[in-house]
Amino acid sequence: MPLESEGRVGFNAARGSAGMPKGSKSTTSAGRRPQLTRILVIHGPNLNLLGEREPEIYGRTTLADIDDQLRELGDDLGVTVETFQSNSEGAIVDRIQQARGEIGALIINPAAYTHTSVAIRDAVQAIAVPVIEVHLSNVYRREPFRHHSTLADIAHGRIMGFGADSYLLALRAGANLLQLSAK
Ligand code: DQA
Repeated sequence: MPLESEGRVGFNAARGSAGMPKGSKSTTSAGRRPQLTRILVIHGPNLNLLGEREPEIYGRTTLADIDDQLRELGDDLGVTVETFQSNSEGAIVDRIQQARGEIGALIINPAAYTHTSVAIRDAVQAIAVPVIEVHLSNVYRREPFRHHSTLADIAHGRIMGFGADSYLLALRAGANLLQLSAK
């Protein structure tokens, strides 16, 4: 079963308007942020095992901890974070398609599919929002087959090598992109 969750829409008084970054639009009457302030984070295969899987490479932080940290940071930055993990390429393609018109940016760690998946690349291209590719490890310090990414040339940017922090850096970058596109 894919793991999916959505961050709370928090009020951050210090930031004024419901924690929204300056220049972004306010919360809709339905209580949901407008689409531009929603960021989807997708984790690919085997990332559900973070914490126990090759901790010398991927660290000891679990995926649940990463998702919690992302939602917390999302609240601070004024963006709603949704997260999704699947071991299946088709489920990832389906989730990307489902996000069409719903999100302002996509953060994705396709894990092993990074190196092989034309289907995920095509889905990412089809939704036409900025995409940030994330890896926990610096793939260029690893085996040559990890050096190729099917997303590299269509991603807005790529962040790798900082363990769980790679995701948090990507979320900051994504939130900045949304602010830029809201101006
Ligand atoms: C990874 C790197 C990939 O090569 C690998 O297959 C993964 C994780 C990373 O986050 O470092 O599963 O994407």
